[in-house]
Amino acid sequence: MTDIRLALTGFGNVGKGLAILLAENEETYRRAYGVRMLLTGVADRGGAITNPEGIDPAFLLRVKETTGTVAGYPGGVPGLAGTKFLEGARAQVLVEASSTNFEDAEPGWSYIRGAIDNGMDLVLASKGALVLHWADMMRSATARGVQVRFSATVGAPLPILEMAQRVLLGSTIEVIEGIVNATSNQILSSMSEGLSYEDGVRRAQEIGIAETDPTLDVDGWDAAAKAVIIANAILGADLRLSDVARTGIRGIVRRELEEARMSGAAIKSIARITNHEGVVRAEVRPDRRPLADPLGGLRNDEMGVVFHTDPLGVMTSTARSTAGGGIVTALTVLRDLFNLANDRGWGHVPA
Ligand SMILES: NC(=O)c1ccc[n+]([C@@H]2O[C@H](COP(=O)([O-])OP(=O)(O)OC[C@H]3O[C@@H](n4cnc5c(N)ncnc54)[C@H](OP(=O)(O)O)[C@@H]3O)[C@@H](O)[C@H]2O)c1
Repeated sequence: MTDIRLALTGFGNVGKGLAILLAENEETYRRAYGVRMLLTGVADRGGAITNPEGIDPAFLLRVKETTGTVAGYPGGVPGLAGTKFLEGARAQVLVEASSTNFEDAEPGWSYIRGAIDNGMDLVLASKGALVLHWADMMRSATARGVQVRFSATVGAPLPILEMAQRVLLGSTIEVIEGIVNATSNQILSSMSEGLSYEDGVRRAQEIGIAETDPTLDVDGWDAAAKAVIIANAILGADLRLSDVARTGIRGIVRRELEEARMSGAAIKSIARITNHEGVVRAEVRPDRRPLADPLGGLRNDEMGVVFHTDPLGVMTSTARSTAGGGIVTALTVLRDLFNLANDRGWGHVPA
């Protein structure tokens, strides 16, 4: 049995989701994968708790609930952050699940650099550093022999990176298109059933998939960021957020959606990445699709990706999740952790 010591930054939906999964399934994971995932450091805005012997995830969840910060855990330190936090955790892997920030990628970027300096592998849920510092991060990670996993950042739980990097090897990927933002798809679905844009946003908020301020989703920023990460990771591009032509869904009126529905089609917010003779381009925009199309038929908060490849043809993956977003994303983080453990030879994933 191998212990894998994790330093977790961010204890919101995803961080807490990870703690719930570890609290509920530790024994199952041990038996199935031959590893024990041990939280040895957890940080939020209030401070941090570090303990190389392990932190009890169930108790930490109660502490966060009652005190508002993980620093309320016995031995926790208000204000503890940065290098001192990483040193205290003595972890093998940094799980970065703090808020995404497309302006300066903080606080994630500082934690990521600190982890690379310490030779820690990275499993990322936040997108800021991937979008703003892709080349720099990958160069320094490679130089230190650090592995970087980030499947949670590109439409969790869709296996977009895994399909490209494991399944489609040997084929040329010409186009990748997807519905990678569940909130926009939910709003468009509601509007096609007759709700106004405002009511569609409200319904998405009630379901728990839209933020109070849904700007990043409805204006296409989130999908554009995912397109950048997908293009850079899969097609070897060096795109920035500003390279993605981006049109959100605010301008779509209910009548257009209803008309599309009457004629057996749907308007969807599609992220599309093309690879033409090595020139990679990305865009996010509303597009009319027949309901029989693999993306046109995706309703509510369903997501999907379609790879157009040569010579294999078309490969599709879609997801309709039954758990909440935090748990689904945390499961995708765990998937990265188990695959990392397997690739590192730390445990065993059944063949
Ligand atoms: N939710 C999803 O389904 C989903 C899916 C894919 C990717 N992601 C990404 O995963 C990350 C986490 O998402 P989430 O839904 O868990 O967000 P969230 O609920 O807003 O939680 C964000 C966490 O980051 C912490 N944080 C913010 N600034 C910090 C700082 N300076 N130092 C330490 N911690 C800090 C917050 O601390 P406090 O608790 O003290 O406020 C909070 O615990 C985000 O980057 C998001 O884009 C989320």
